[in-house]
Amino acid sequence: MQPVVVQHPLAQCHLAAIRAVGTPSHDFRRHLNHLARMLFLEASRELPVREISVQTPLIETQGSQLARPLVFVPILRAGLGLLDGILPLVPEAVVAHVGIKRNEETALPHAYYSNLPACLSAADVFLLDPMLATGGSACEAARQLKAAGALRITLVCAVSCPEGLAAMEHAHPDVPIVTAAIDDGLNDKCYIVPGLGDAGDRYFGT
Ligand code: PRP
Ligand code: URA
Repeated sequence: MQPVVVQHPLAQCHLAAIRAVGTPSHDFRRHLNHLARMLFLEASRELPVREISVQTPLIETQGSQLARPLVFVPILRAGLGLLDGILPLVPEAVVAHVGIKRNEETALPHAYYSNLPACLSAADVFLLDPMLATGGSACEAARQLKAAGALRITLVCAVSCPEGLAAMEHAHPDVPIVTAAIDDGLNDKCYIVPGLGDAGDRYFGT
């Protein structure tokens, strides 16, 4: 499945701001939150709705309601930066958490926490992580979600690269990916180039 790259000019301006090394954490947060909203609007474009009747102050008319519950799953930590931007759009969504940390020597994912709800099979699930580098973290998170019953998963990430996209295509070809960029690739420390550095450190100021 081809990733969707959000080319909207405002999204690309927010992306440039979070890439810039001089952007302080408070601005990094603001720009990543805005970018997350724009990515989620694209990722949620095909969500099914049901018709409902709405009584306005004047007459009854037709409106829409989401047909299925939404579950947001940030990969800790940096996925929280996308969640902060998106959750205000759908405050009734369920938030589940997956904790995964890359081993700094091997870049392999270490899963250290998981709290997933029982309703996954009935929900539209959005997996949130700003960075798709080797793809190890996203592949492991998607595996956990499927094992817990998720049937419809979409991955939302700010920056991706060919290696991570290939890993997801190999392990989870049924998971659509919405991103703001497909970068050149990984360096010898498995960081995305040009990338933006360590997303979690920059978001949380650590
Ligand atoms: C970063 C990032 C992704 C992962 C991407 O998290 O937020 O989760 O690396 O790399 P991958 O595609 O090669 O797995 P990190 O492991 O640094 O944890 P953190 O968010 O707690 O800083
Ligand atoms: N994790 C990050 O935060 N940045 C990268 O470039 C790769 C993994």
